Amino acid sequence: MRNDIEKMLISSEQIAKRIEEIGKQISLDYKGKDLLMVSVLKGSFVFMSDLVRSVDIPLEVDFMMVSSYVGQLSSEAVKIVKDLDIPLENKDILIVEDILDSGRTLEYISSILKVRNPNSIKICTLLDKPSRRVANVQADYIGFEVPDEFVVGYGLDFNEKYRNLKYIGLLKPEIYN
Ligand code: IMP
Ligand code: MG
Repeated sequence: MRNDIEKMLISSEQIAKRIEEIGKQISLDYKGKDLLMVSVLKGSFVFMSDLVRSVDIPLEVDFMMVSSYVGQLSSEAVKIVKDLDIPLENKDILIVEDILDSGRTLEYISSILKVRNPNSIKICTLLDKPSRRVANVQADYIGFEVPDEFVVGYGLDFNEKYRNLKYIGLLKPEIYN
């Protein structure tokens, strides 16, 4: 698996350090609130599991899965595959994503959660590719900004593989061909 990687972009140490920082900030910002952290499956499951343990205030977790068109291309049409179990009324929602690319996925998710009357909705993404943005979406917490290249690892996949890498890396071109 390591032989398929062209280059490591972000090490597991860098990821861990940044998550501690974000977790501290979330703990401050949501003190006294009714925090519900919503993980967008599958890509954010690794980030989510580390992030919740770096937050030291009471919180709830839930999971949601939306479909998008497969392969390297990002979503052009999105629908709910697995919905949340927990009602959102009066809760402060923090959506946790692996990567904010075109922004269409998070635009869709935000719009359907908004009508369920939460107290607030914010977005936390591990990676941000601002150069690819199509939808009008911004994250409130960002781990790292990345260039317009296809990245894998730490939850992010190519054809469902590489999610278990401890770091974020670029795939070798021959893997795509
Ligand atoms: P968006 O709707 O275009 O923002 O797409 C977001 C989703 O596309 C992410 O949750 C990922 O699942 C996927 N995605 C976008 N860029 C990458 C990448 O570089 N590597 C792996 N998955 C990606
Ligand atoms: Mg994803």
